[in-house]
Amino acid sequence: MKITSSELENVSGLSSQYPKGDFIEIALSGRSNVGKSSFVNSLLQRKNMARTSSKPGKTRTINFYKVNNNFRLVDLPGYGYAKASKTDMEKWASLINNYLENREQLKEIFLIVDARHEPSQQDLEMYEWIKHAGFTGYIIATKIDKIGKSKIDQSKKLIAKKLNADRNLIIPYSSTDRYGREEVLRLIADITK
Ligand code: GTP
Ligand code: MG
Repeated sequence: MKITSSELENVSGLSSQYPKGDFIEIALSGRSNVGKSSFVNSLLQRKNMARTSSKPGKTRTINFYKVNNNFRLVDLPGYGYAKASKTDMEKWASLINNYLENREQLKEIFLIVDARHEPSQQDLEMYEWIKHAGFTGYIIATKIDKIGKSKIDQSKKLIAKKLNADRNLIIPYSSTDRYGREEVLRLIADITK
């Protein structure tokens, strides 16, 4: 699949603000700072379309990106940001959960994890929910540029073990050098066909 067009279609802080139109949606879920927004930019080859930051807690709304006038990539706020206030955390959690539980055209959820670290307990909870809700359970192991290609297998093994995941569902990725981009594009083509 080729990316021919992309735009930030909608920014939602409330479910009443979600965009209309029944385009298929693929949501990106994961811990704060793991690289969800960077994944959007690298996949769509748009440098600053999604706002990113070296500090966690950057994305605080649900951001809908329309791609090829055919489907949407949905960038979610991250979870597990220790420094966020309790009120903020509860607000983001209800925003995320409400979207994931109720959005009819949501076709797949990609869990984004950091290839360098063992997934957290919250990752495990999210992953179990994803599977329970009937989604396939694809995992993007990003920041792979930081560990070197020889350690990819080791990283996959660690992630698969902690999340009780099928290793074939784990896709190593780097937003910096775009490792894995073609594989993800093939997968999205399959999901959206
Ligand atoms: P929240 O919006 O807080 O949930 O974070 P996020 O998951 O959207 O993370 P974001 O894309 O803002 O990236 C966080 C930091 O990680 C930034 O400093 C990025 O430059 C860096 N980063 C993201 N992906 C990669 C990657 O593949 N490789 C490297 N080296 N750095 C990355
Ligand atoms: Mg973000």
